[in-house]
Amino acid sequence: MAVAAEPLVQLRAYVEYYRDLGVLDFYRTRTMEASVGTEAETVSVASTEIPGTFQAQPLLVEPTVSSEDTLSRTVPAESAIAKLLSLSALAPLPPVRVAAPDRAAALEAVRVEIGDCTRCPLAYAGRRTIVFGDGDPRARLMFVGEGPGADEDAQGLPFVGKSGQLLNNMIAAMGLAREQVYIANIVKCRPPANRAPEPIEANTCTQFLARQIDLVQPEFMVALGATAAMYLLGVKQPLASLRGRFHEVRGVQTAITYHPAFLLRDPRQKGEAWKDLQMVMAAMGLKGKA
Ligand code: URA
Repeated sequence: MAVAAEPLVQLRAYVEYYRDLGVLDFYRTRTMEASVGTEAETVSVASTEIPGTFQAQPLLVEPTVSSEDTLSRTVPAESAIAKLLSLSALAPLPPVRVAAPDRAAALEAVRVEIGDCTRCPLAYAGRRTIVFGDGDPRARLMFVGEGPGADEDAQGLPFVGKSGQLLNNMIAAMGLAREQVYIANIVKCRPPANRAPEPIEANTCTQFLARQIDLVQPEFMVALGATAAMYLLGVKQPLASLRGRFHEVRGVQTAITYHPAFLLRDPRQKGEAWKDLQMVMAAMGLKGKA
């Protein structure tokens, strides 16, 4: 449901009002109870040429401290940041795992449960489509972005715009097809003007993302960008300090890299992103595009 600018301003005021009251989560499924996540080990990788169209760009200058690094786009209040929850802390891992042949149906059941969601303010902020996720329900590798943009909102699929084209190239460079991975976002509804999701929106929505992760049971995940990293890990740290090692998120080895939209704005960082993907490839035993 699209709404005019004036109600959007009011909506923003409500989000900030609830945030100041300490309300950071509008919805929690009954199965979601607290548990604590774990830290990660370090993996090092060798750097090689990027095959295919996702080409490493020679670094013409020293990598700069970027907005992606400093999280300057993501400006939730410090009080809210202090209450960030990692996805591991959202809920214990399910005691029984869904068998591979049943995962597609189980994911569909989660989609049905989400319904025409009105659990958080994004439902009233102009979203047209709920962008659930896309890909192989049995994927070994899952990518998590920030939230749908205009193209995704129109098509109901994650990463189908310009960022999506670059992500497809990154996946191809790893030696995989897009259909072989699973792709989802921190929030399933487009934030107005492509702003970063607020904690109240992310905390509300990631309970479904947690269930998608638990169902697909990927071996590895890649968090795309600082916002995805912040909400998956439950920490607000510069992206640069999170790269280069795996973090455990819901039992899944998770690498952090730059968001494709950021790489489109600053292609010099593609080489750095490729190093992150190579770390994942080495751990997965992938040789990359032939
Ligand atoms: N950016 C994201 O973070 N997710 C999408 O699905 C598209 C663009």
